[in-house]
Amino acid sequence: MTLNITAKSLLSALLLSAALTACSSQESAETAAKGEHAEEAAEHAIKSSSAGLPDGRVAEGEKLANSTDTPSKQSCIECHGKEGAAPIDPTYPTLAGQYADYLEYAITSYRDGRRDQAVMKGQVGHLNDQQVADLAAYFASRKGNITDLSHVE
Ligand code: HEC
Repeated sequence: MTLNITAKSLLSALLLSAALTACSSQESAETAAKGEHAEEAAEHAIKSSSAGLPDGRVAEGEKLANSTDTPSKQSCIECHGKEGAAPIDPTYPTLAGQYADYLEYAITSYRDGRRDQAVMKGQVGHLNDQQVADLAAYFASRKGNITDLSHVE
């Protein structure tokens, strides 16, 4: 009888430790997988834009920037000016010469509502990631009157 109980508790102790081992090995597998993902993410971030969008194509962006085939029936350049370098109003930003990463960030912010701005939401709400990247590549490739401090010794 006593022996039987001891055997039973031994068995349950064994089962418990087996279960614990299973748990911890599963955990370490998960941790390893997370580590791999972090490495992949880091690699991805170096290769692509900060917004994680596809590579932008300047020629496609130029077409889109001039197209009035949009929900508002207006093209980007109607407000931001020729090549995004001559806004029609002093309160409208110059796009030409801005960093593509920043432009992508700004456009997706309007599109996804992180920047709550009625005019621009209406202009970019319909764009997919590739189109955003193309527009950003185009405006970034134009010469604007924007300066940075790279010319300062
Ligand atoms: C009806 C006029 C109008 C049209 C058309 C328009 N925009 Fe704008 N855009 C604005 C205004 C006004 C702002 C400033 C909004 C704000 O205060 O955040 C702006 C801001 C922006 C910004 C932010 C710039 C910065 O320095 O942060 C980007 C990028 C931009 N527009 C891209 C586009 C693109 C791409 C298109 C075409 C798909 C477009 N816009 C069409 C008026 C317009």
